[in-house]
Amino acid sequence: MNGTKIWLVGFMGSGKSTLGALLAEKLNWGFLDTDVAISQEVGLDIGAIFLKHGQDYFRGLEGRLIQQISQQTCLVVATGGGMPIFHPLEGLGEIIYLHADFEVILARLQQDSNPRPLFENTTQLHTLYTQRHPFYARMATHTLNANQCPSQVLNQLLELVSNIYKI
Ligand code: S3P
Repeated sequence: MNGTKIWLVGFMGSGKSTLGALLAEKLNWGFLDTDVAISQEVGLDIGAIFLKHGQDYFRGLEGRLIQQISQQTCLVVATGGGMPIFHPLEGLGEIIYLHADFEVILARLQQDSNPRPLFENTTQLHTLYTQRHPFYARMATHTLNANQCPSQVLNQLLELVSNIYKI
């Protein structure tokens, strides 16, 4: 199956990394988490990259990474929440928006051990969420309800993917 790539997009805490890894395993495809790849390349965690080099530098690395992987096939990509906002992904494969409600996102981020440099406080996070939602919704080739637990969202993803690729 050539020419196949799935980009999981959505707000921080929507489950892209967890679900991307599970989906890739089920499909027997490759998996790439863009934050992990960038963090490994720079040798710093994402928070430290923002702190030391700034957001523009991080976005530059995201753009370069998209170029690097654009030719790969049979790949599931878990994107960082801002990646498709700063870099167009249209035409590069299936773009699946994992859409979770703000309350669900907030609860997950508050429990998450991975600190997000762009999560300053609830009001600011809500503003960012509201700004970004229409962009994700517009670019997505498919949207899923990501409020549920990972196993339930994974089932939705598997059903969707089997419909898309007729597998
Ligand atoms: C960001 C989301 C993060 C990470 C960085 C910026 C964003 O990824 O790329 O902190 O702009 O929303 P997750 O969506 O995996 O948290």
